[in-house]
Amino acid sequence: MKPPILNLVIMLRKDRILLLCLCFLFLQLPAQNAEPSSTDNSAKMEWFANAKLGIFIHWGIYAVNGIPESWSFFNETISHEDYLKQADAFTAKNYRPQDWAALIRESGAQYAVITSKHHDGFALWDSKDKVFNAKRHSPAGRDLLTPFVEALREEDLKVGLYYSLPDWSFEDYTDFTRIQKRYAIEEEPKRWKAFQKYMNAQLVELKKAFDPDLWWFDGDWEHTAEEWDVAGIRELLFKDRPDVILNSRLNGQGDYETPEIGVPVYKPQADFWELCVTMNDSWGYQQNDRNYKSSQQIIDLFVDCLHKGGNLLLDIGPKADGSIPEAQQEILKDLGRWTSKHKEAIYGSKSGIPFEHFMGPTTLSPDNRTLYVFVRDVPKDGKIFLKGINNKIHRAYVVGRGTLLTQKTFYKVYWNKYPGVTYIDIPESEIDEEYTVIGLVLDGEISLFKEETGAVESN
Ligand code: GLC
Repeated sequence: MKPPILNLVIMLRKDRILLLCLCFLFLQLPAQNAEPSSTDNSAKMEWFANAKLGIFIHWGIYAVNGIPESWSFFNETISHEDYLKQADAFTAKNYRPQDWAALIRESGAQYAVITSKHHDGFALWDSKDKVFNAKRHSPAGRDLLTPFVEALREEDLKVGLYYSLPDWSFEDYTDFTRIQKRYAIEEEPKRWKAFQKYMNAQLVELKKAFDPDLWWFDGDWEHTAEEWDVAGIRELLFKDRPDVILNSRLNGQGDYETPEIGVPVYKPQADFWELCVTMNDSWGYQQNDRNYKSSQQIIDLFVDCLHKGGNLLLDIGPKADGSIPEAQQEILKDLGRWTSKHKEAIYGSKSGIPFEHFMGPTTLSPDNRTLYVFVRDVPKDGKIFLKGINNKIHRAYVVGRGTLLTQKTFYKVYWNKYPGVTYIDIPESEIDEEYTVIGLVLDGEISLFKEETGAVESN
């Protein structure tokens, strides 16, 4: 007879074997009951993630009086009738879509998103549904979208179409102004169906005519996903075009986040995001709004987005005659000077390292072997410093110029593991007007020192 302790050991062993068998069986089971993994859209998002800079364009009849796009009649600061009268002076007589596209290319942007139709319902293309549009209802007298989309493609830029879900001018749409509603869907479901039919027809037209690479929806806040039939919209847009990209303003069911105006303070959690901002305080052209940010401030913002791994969608508001205001052109050109010099630190880059390692913005090359540091100001004693980088820095150079820089590491002793603090010299002759970018070629993939500071280990 075995002693009781031996029996227990055998029992425990049997249990372990049983447990192992169960684990093995479980691993062999097909994963059909598992939760579907979140759709991996990284392949289709590749061009978007690499693009970093896009230009947003708000162009419509609101540029005539220079008043807030659509909102001015919605908020009842002008009557709907008077708002629509602006169409009579929307001439587009100096509209040169090739010049627009060339300027966008020059800025360093890789895509553009244009308002095909804002909340006021004015369509830039020849919308077949006898609706309010540039060709039929303004002296522009032509489809303005087609030549621009063609020009973008000639410049090898991706095409994004902004489309407002709400259409406050359309007789069968629910909302008219902030105070006046036309009807409630529950009371007049047929009317809502009529609106949906109209909206779907427009989306089909846009899809067929322009086959955009990206759809930028807006105004989803006015109805629920069920009311808009977001599922139906998605099905329509993805049909024969599974790689098309949708922004998130489809009741959250898009591919990337779209923070607006507010610059994220912390790195957003989303894999893909795009901050849209105005150059002054208006989306569309407003002659009285001269509150432009400087090119330096726009680049500050762009660099901040790069550091946090997102895109910047920078808005311009062309005038009613189709010309782009001087101040906006200047900003785009300044951006172009800076982006073309620093392309290797921008396009395709990954988000940078924490400020504990470098007190400023950074990005990483796709292979994580080159760290780019962005230096805004002229360093006080001609030096910048980094700390807690385990790698050896093979080479430090000025991006866009190639000048090699000298470096020296301090506080690195043989008796502890701290990588020390590395100072890099930047002669004043190398300083860029906006941001000087320094490339640091590492001895391998970047490795950051993450241990907590402890007592002396040896001496
Ligand atoms: C807001 C506004 C709109 C503007 C858009 C740009 O949603 O309604 O006027 O076009 O932001 O992001």
